[in-house]
Amino acid sequence: MSPPAADALVLFGVSGDLAHRKLLPALYGLAVRGLLDMPVLGVSAGDWDDAALAEHTATAITAARPDADEQVVADLTSRLHMVAGDYRDPATFEKLAQRCAELGVRHAVHYLAIPPDLAGTVIGGLAQAGLNRGARVVLEKPFGRDLASAQRLNETVRQAFDESSIFRIDHYLGKESVENLLVFRFANSLLEPVWNRRYVSQVQITMAETIGVSGRGGFYEGVGAVRDVVQNHLLQVLALLAMEPPVSADAAALRDEKAKVLTAIQPVSSADCVFGQYNGYRDEPGVAADSSVETYAALRLHIDTWRWAGVPFVLRAGKRLAATALEAVVELQAPPRLLFVPHAAAPEPNLLRFRLGVDDGVTMTLQAKRPGEQLHTRSVDLDVDFPVALGARHDAYERLLADALVGDTSRFARNDAVEQAWRIVQPLFDDPPPVSSYEPGTWGPEQASRITPAGWHSVQLHHQHSAAHRAATPAPPPGKTAHQ
Ligand code: BG6
Repeated sequence: MSPPAADALVLFGVSGDLAHRKLLPALYGLAVRGLLDMPVLGVSAGDWDDAALAEHTATAITAARPDADEQVVADLTSRLHMVAGDYRDPATFEKLAQRCAELGVRHAVHYLAIPPDLAGTVIGGLAQAGLNRGARVVLEKPFGRDLASAQRLNETVRQAFDESSIFRIDHYLGKESVENLLVFRFANSLLEPVWNRRYVSQVQITMAETIGVSGRGGFYEGVGAVRDVVQNHLLQVLALLAMEPPVSADAAALRDEKAKVLTAIQPVSSADCVFGQYNGYRDEPGVAADSSVETYAALRLHIDTWRWAGVPFVLRAGKRLAATALEAVVELQAPPRLLFVPHAAAPEPNLLRFRLGVDDGVTMTLQAKRPGEQLHTRSVDLDVDFPVALGARHDAYERLLADALVGDTSRFARNDAVEQAWRIVQPLFDDPPPVSSYEPGTWGPEQASRITPAGWHSVQLHHQHSAAHRAATPAPPPGKTAHQ
């Protein structure tokens, strides 16, 4: 039986940063596509009324989409309702229940865009007011702050909601570029024969950002890089790269495979991890003067399966780095030297580089003959830019909100995978490695070089190469890829 369509969206944390930057603009996107024909209720502390929420929403939408259609914005803001109140106060939930009753709401989607330590309180409040009945709940990451708290939160939420009504959001799962990993792997028979330890020498997943904590110092102090992006975003990307093919296309089959591969990953040891903090982080608003929170983490993971045993998976994430890049690079074994002349360098290994951020695409680095008399090799790229080849795609939050409204859980994390991901990184909380400082605008602390395996092909070099290449290449006409 398909789940009932939602008849209202309730946004907890509506005055917060995530709502402003992502959720409210995503609502506009849904409204444009006719997918948000329902009331939207905002909840947060403070004294906003309906008019204040409407004004805030219009500002957030036009900041993100300066070309927004005024009529769509006006129609959307006319359907907004504000419920102001403290999440710890049962009266807030009674007010919300009353507003929902007046609007005839029976199947609300409650979206919790709130700090992780308040999630249990809000779920308790919803259950006490009967607002869990017939409803769904969307929980923002991080889901808990470690394995034990995630297990407790799972218990709390499962007492109030069915697993099929629980949507643990990780916006990376809503990115077309990340979902493409699944299609690229399983719809191209070229890859499967080499997608294992016999041919792959290492896998690197890098999430580099030039921005710092962007005014979110208070939030970031409670999380750090591992809780903010490694436990969720990067391990989800890893799961898609490393899992076995799902037995069918349904949500359960896909989620089973992801949970299975995460279960096979050994907990990371502190010796396999380097933490860094950018100079200047401690001067950010909301950050302690002696903070030891990591703004950079590099870690090496091992997967104990027939497919992957012995292949290092290196994950790196950092703020205030030299570039913004989100990439997964699969490096194949280096070929033997064979016929290549003794004085030339050995041919470079083949790389498959998935660019997952804005301007996503895939680059395959192969070897070709360098012009000249000798059999010397040179790397060349087969490169496709997806925005050029495939056209514009919808934003991740917009896609995930649409899924939650129709009750489709496939792009959301299941409890077992979330707990497995915490289990993998838990040693970093129990026995954290020392935090080394690094200069903003660099590639993180020097010490990280000990995590990266020999033969490491740095994302930064490729990034510079690609940026220069793109700048020098005129844009192709629509429908053509850039480098075919
Ligand atoms: C969020 C993190 O989940 O992802 C942020 O909390 C980070 O710290 C952001 O900047 C990056 O998202 P994206 O979609 O820009 O890669």
